[in-house]
Amino acid sequence: MAKVLIIGAGGVGQVVTHKCARDPEVFSEICLASRTKQKCDAIAGQLSRPIETAQVDADNVPELVTLINRFRPDLVINVALPYQDLHIMDACLETGVHYLDTANYEPLDEARFCYRWQWEYQDRFREKGLMALLGSGFDPGVTNVYCARAQKHHFDEIHELDIIDCNAGDHGQPFATNFNPEINIREVTAKGRFWEKGQWQETPPLSVSRIYDFPEGIGPKKIYLLYHEELESLAQNLKGLKRASFWMTFSDNYLKHLEVLQNVGMTRIDPILYNGVEIVPLQFLKALLPDPGSLGPLTTGKTCIGCRIKGVKDGKEKEYFIYNICDHRTCYEEVGSQAVSYTTGVPAMVGAKMMLTGKWTGAGVFNMEQLDPDPFLAEVAKQGLPWTETFY
Ligand SMILES: NC(=O)c1ccc[n+]([C@@H]2O[C@H](COP(=O)([O-])OP(=O)(O)OC[C@H]3O[C@@H](n4cnc5c(N)ncnc54)[C@H](OP(=O)(O)O)[C@@H]3O)[C@@H](O)[C@H]2O)c1
Repeated sequence: MAKVLIIGAGGVGQVVTHKCARDPEVFSEICLASRTKQKCDAIAGQLSRPIETAQVDADNVPELVTLINRFRPDLVINVALPYQDLHIMDACLETGVHYLDTANYEPLDEARFCYRWQWEYQDRFREKGLMALLGSGFDPGVTNVYCARAQKHHFDEIHELDIIDCNAGDHGQPFATNFNPEINIREVTAKGRFWEKGQWQETPPLSVSRIYDFPEGIGPKKIYLLYHEELESLAQNLKGLKRASFWMTFSDNYLKHLEVLQNVGMTRIDPILYNGVEIVPLQFLKALLPDPGSLGPLTTGKTCIGCRIKGVKDGKEKEYFIYNICDHRTCYEEVGSQAVSYTTGVPAMVGAKMMLTGKWTGAGVFNMEQLDPDPFLAEVAKQGLPWTETFY
């Protein structure tokens, strides 16, 4: 029996709230708070049990502290935007509440994944006896736990890791992103980066690609090398790692639109003056693009996200792929959201459940691979994201 405060009533927040509401034994009281209270009320209206809703500006620490002190949650689940991470962590420290998020902190004016800012909270969380769980989505999140499982059960040393994220879904829109457009476009237009022989190597954005043959009827798709935040913690926490990279599929249509938008300056994150008013082109573009939440009823097809791992066990070389397949339409029927929000929201709820039921405990700041993968993977499969292992 625990009280949870969910911050962020977007695509992911909707899934987390649905999933927590269906597990009253653990999440006995829920408050959903966001910048726009109507969005919280709309989600609350879809549920079969009452929850509280509230308006909060999560960039305003005193406002957060007032809300936390009023509701007194055991845990705050942060599914707002990466810009809010440090403010919400500050509020959790001030009020003595555990913390969980799905994406690492990014400063507004610099598109850069980096755990440094949140890892710097290590001593403060430890001293207060509080736990901060970072990146409890799918990637980061389940992908880190897949690696922890591989390390615990299948390999003495992991040498090569490819995290592969395929969205083979179709929403029928000329151009749309499956999660927050601003965060998505910042991620995709950044330089590629991978880990090799103890060092980071950089590549120009979307300049490295290859074909990967996905299982269960998805088939061959072009995947592009990107930098993704889980590589930073995995490079530290996996024994013997020699190379690690992250890959994602994009349709030719998505890339064509993105190239034009970049060429005309619409993806810039620095402010420009328009009619005497400062605007950030990417934020303006976000206002024009379809809300990812609206793609739920339109999207068909599947996602496949997994980890292809090579290493050694008992002196022998071994290779395997652990992955999940998720169907957009099935997710929509269950919680009213497409699979990208679903595959993020379910692990956020499961991570919270691990913390609130004492299966994952600790004081300090943790990445997902630092905790026991077994109870998490058992629960994430039960909650709708089963996983498959193929050995080569
Ligand atoms: N790990 C993973 O696998 C993974 C995958 C996808 C997404 N994510 C992360 O999940 C998070 C949510 O993504 P999403 O697609 O749900 O985004 P979204 O649909 O844009 O939702 C974000 C929500 O946060 C609210 N918000 C923004 N700024 C706020 C503030 N200052 N105070 C209070 N609320 C604020 C927004 O409010 P308004 O509606 O009023 O703007 C919106 O409701 C993001 O951090 C994203 O990076 C992680």
